[in-house]
Amino acid sequence: MAHSRHYLMCRPDHFAVEYAINPWMDPSKGADAATAVRQWERLKETYEELGHRVSLIDPIDGLPDMVFAANGALVVGGRVYGARFATAERAAEGPAYLRWFTENGFAPVMEPTVTNEGEGDFLVLDEVVLAGTGFRTEIAAHQEAQEFLGRPVVTLRLVDPCYYHLDTALFPIDGRNVAYYPGAFSPGSRDVLRRMFPDAVIAGPDDAAVLGLNAVSDGHNVIVNVEAADLSLELKRRGLNVIPVDLSELRKAGGGPKCCTLEIRP
Ligand code: ARG
Repeated sequence: MAHSRHYLMCRPDHFAVEYAINPWMDPSKGADAATAVRQWERLKETYEELGHRVSLIDPIDGLPDMVFAANGALVVGGRVYGARFATAERAAEGPAYLRWFTENGFAPVMEPTVTNEGEGDFLVLDEVVLAGTGFRTEIAAHQEAQEFLGRPVVTLRLVDPCYYHLDTALFPIDGRNVAYYPGAFSPGSRDVLRRMFPDAVIAGPDDAAVLGLNAVSDGHNVIVNVEAADLSLELKRRGLNVIPVDLSELRKAGGGPKCCTLEIRP
C-alpha cells in the first residue's frame, strides 16, 4: 500500500566531482552544483507533491557527496543505525548524519563499529532487510544491523564496480517485491534473489547503466531516472505510477533519486 513517507535529504549546495571513489566519477570532467541543485529541488518537490514529508540536513562545505543522504544511516522502527563510510573522502559524513538524528530526538541512535554505508547497502522490506557487500559495506555490519534492529538481514554480494552499492542495482517496489539487475550480483546471490522474489522485475544492462534501479517507490508511485525506458514500461505494465526525474548531474557522481533519499521509518 502507498502511504505517506518521511525522507531526509541534503541540498547539493557543495556538490562537485573532485575525487573518484566509483567508476562514474571523473574529476577531470567535474560537475555543476547549480544544475545539481535545480534537479534535486525538482526531486524534493516531487516527494512533497505526493504528500511525503521531507526533512533537511544542512550540507557541509568540503563534503561534495553529502547530497547522497541514503548513505547517512539506516532507520527502521525509529531505531537509527549510523553509517561508517568506507572511504576517507566521505568519513566526516557519518558523524554529521548521526548528530542530525540525535539532535532531532531520535533514540536509540547507534554508532556502528564496522564499515557500512547506510541505505546505500541496506534496503528494507516488510519481513526482511536486504544488504549489499563487496565494495563498501562489510558483512559484519549486516550482522550488527540485524542484532540492533531485530530484523532478519540477507546478505547479497555485489560484483560489478559500477554497481558498488546495493541501491544502484535493486529497489523494493513494495514491502514484498523488488526490481533488480542480475548482472550486478554474484551467481549465489542471483539464486537467492530468484528464490526470494520469483515475481521480481528484472532489469537489463541499459536500464542499469542509467542508474534506473536507483529508484524510490512508495508502493504505488515509483520515482525513476527518466532515461530508464524499458524498466519504466515494465513498471507501468504492473500498474505502478512511474514518475520520471532527471538527475543527470548527480549521476556524474554515481548517484540517482534513491541515493539522494534517506527514508525515516517510524
Ligand atoms: N559518489 C558517491 C559515492 O561513491 C555516490 C553515492 C551514491 N549513493 C548511493 N546510495 N548509492 O559514495
